[in-house]
Amino acid sequence: MRIPIIAGNWKMYKTEEEAFQLASELQKRLKDVNGVKVILCPPFTSLSSVRKAIENSLILLGAQNMHWEEKGAYTGEISPHMLLTAGCKHVIIGHSERRSYFSETDEFVNLKVKSALKFDLSPIICVGEKLDQREANKTEEVVEIQVKGAFKNLSAQEAEKTIIAYEPVWAIGTGRTATPAQANEVHTFIRELLSSEFGKQCADKINILYGGSVKPENSKELLGMPEIDGALVGGASLDAEFFEKIVRNAIES
Ligand code: 13P
Repeated sequence: MRIPIIAGNWKMYKTEEEAFQLASELQKRLKDVNGVKVILCPPFTSLSSVRKAIENSLILLGAQNMHWEEKGAYTGEISPHMLLTAGCKHVIIGHSERRSYFSETDEFVNLKVKSALKFDLSPIICVGEKLDQREANKTEEVVEIQVKGAFKNLSAQEAEKTIIAYEPVWAIGTGRTATPAQANEVHTFIRELLSSEFGKQCADKINILYGGSVKPENSKELLGMPEIDGALVGGASLDAEFFEKIVRNAIES
């Protein structure tokens, strides 16, 4: 049995003070919650304030990106060692916004995934097709290339420490969600792919989250699907009430 995961990707929102307020509010609202793993991924500048707000709770800290090197002359970058010592347990890798605006390739994603694992960070690996690719019936082809690229040269022991987020690009920030059946179909495809690469036992341990306009109203149905093991939430994770509802829906589903 996979424990559902609800992760909030705060993207480039919230100052340090605002992040502290939101995380403190969530910590209060989610005190009684168990049976679901909650991860907050604020911007780098708020990792420390969110860490303080969630200490003594079960909420986990994650980052939104990292470099693959431990240290070095890489102006503007953050290393996995820095994230680990900042209290992170997770890091989002290969989000579609990084792939499209910052030219991240599957090779970069693979380097980052391997490095995150080396530093004891569990990567949340994002994959997903663009609208034209879906319309051209290329969803599986695109997702297969991304998954195989991200997991290249990983052992099954390493693979089982990862989390995958299927985020169809056309559903991110658009208000347009994949239907539960559409999402479940791609999740099933990804699980089969993982199973053929690493064996069923390993594939069954990997949580596959759905991301793309997840809201309290649609989360119950999405999370109720057999292959949807949680959600990576953007916009709705910036609102304590909405995020709490999504977390509670994950327990009930
Ligand atoms: P939205 O929930 O705002 O569509 O964003 C999804 C996302 O990109 C999470 O990583």
